[in-house]
Amino acid sequence: MRISVIGTGYLGATHAACMAELGFEVLGLDVDQAKIDCLSRGELPFHEPGLPELLLKHIASGRLRFTTSYEEVGAWADVHFIGVGTPQKAGDNAADLTYVDAATLSLARHITKDSLIVGKSTVPVGTARRLQQLVIKNKNDGVDVGFAWNPEFLREGFAVKDTLTPDRLVVGVDNPDAEAVLREVYATALAANTPFISTDFETAELVKVAANAFLATKISFINAFSEVTETVGGDIRTLADAIGHDTRIGRRFLNAGVGFGGGCLPKDIRALQARVSELGLERTMRFLSEVDEINLRRRDRVVFLAEDMLGELAGKKIAVLGVAFKPDSDDVRDSPALDVAARLFSAGADVNVFDPEANTNAAKRFPRLNYVNSTVDAARDADLVILLTEWAEFKALAPTDLDDLVRGKRFIDGRNVLDMGVWQDAGWDITALGHRHVGQK
Ligand code: UGA
Repeated sequence: MRISVIGTGYLGATHAACMAELGFEVLGLDVDQAKIDCLSRGELPFHEPGLPELLLKHIASGRLRFTTSYEEVGAWADVHFIGVGTPQKAGDNAADLTYVDAATLSLARHITKDSLIVGKSTVPVGTARRLQQLVIKNKNDGVDVGFAWNPEFLREGFAVKDTLTPDRLVVGVDNPDAEAVLREVYATALAANTPFISTDFETAELVKVAANAFLATKISFINAFSEVTETVGGDIRTLADAIGHDTRIGRRFLNAGVGFGGGCLPKDIRALQARVSELGLERTMRFLSEVDEINLRRRDRVVFLAEDMLGELAGKKIAVLGVAFKPDSDDVRDSPALDVAARLFSAGADVNVFDPEANTNAAKRFPRLNYVNSTVDAARDADLVILLTEWAEFKALAPTDLDDLVRGKRFIDGRNVLDMGVWQDAGWDITALGHRHVGQK
């Protein structure tokens, strides 16, 4: 079976390399020539553990190639996965479907052999049915082109593992042939008893946004309790541990901190609200506005704490550890950490930023921050150190690593990963989100 993957961003490049790893011949397509040149040389334009190795392996094996030609893809592949982006529209909560529409139309016009188009991008409910009609209207006569929807649940940082060994597979189909093709594509995972949910287009589209909305809600739920413990006292980590022992609740995604960011959760909860409002259900997802607001208030809290600790931000030196939206990623899209760093800078602070992977991407967005190459360089002469992305090397920090470097022993743990008692005993004024700031011991 020959597989094409349209769009070679995060989702598409991962899917293409993993399909090659599963034994398929794969052709990745992107309209961005520079990206295709880069991937064809075996260079990955973003950071994802394990993916560069797969890319090189299958460029060498000959199973993975890249092109910008729809003509080539349309004449070659049996299954076409669409994995282009659906970002938030500028000045609007809704998703921008320009790329997914364009990819579907181009495919439909260029397919010259019987094949199946499978949408993977995250889309507002109703999109799959509309795109299916677009394909029917624009495909070439005499060619049989099926249509299916197969949402993707991979997490950045675990993209290869999540694609090769997913925790479930969801397919939206309207005929048994399409399902049979997808069962063949995912035969390896099915042999390992991965749950396979075959359903209609609408459910498949909704599963994806429901999952992300639930995860976002879970994070904002614990962060709302942070606002309470910050006021009344108490330990947010212990609270999360204690409720997490109830298996109906579960401990995962209850890590209180500076909140969620990235290219998915924030825009997906906004797009979901926009879509249900279009359907006349204005009230239905209104709680997601609160989820969003709680999330954004966490950033205000960090800036407030910095002011509280330093008095005046102007002229103070602040070390920001981490600007990626989460560890093991160089992605700074909607990153809470980068937003906080930029706000501190706007308030007049002299901000040193160190992220093990995301400095370059962050510098493209906020070139005026002072990017450095180590924790030591960031912390030297700092009046305050703020941990905003929980990279393993930051979680492993001990007071002795910084004691002699900083100008003031002040620390804000924006991800709740340090043992505050240890730092307090070493003479630091340390606080974490979800804790009342008590000052130096
Ligand atoms: C998310 C979903 O987890 C994936 O299942 C989904 O496929 C993907 O979006 C997508 O739609 O493509 P991802 O954006 O890679 O994946 O990141 P997550 O691991 O979900 O983390 C999202 C944000 O929540 C990060 O900023 C993280 O720091 C934050 N977070 C996570 C918390 O603040 N607390 C937690 O307890 C967990």
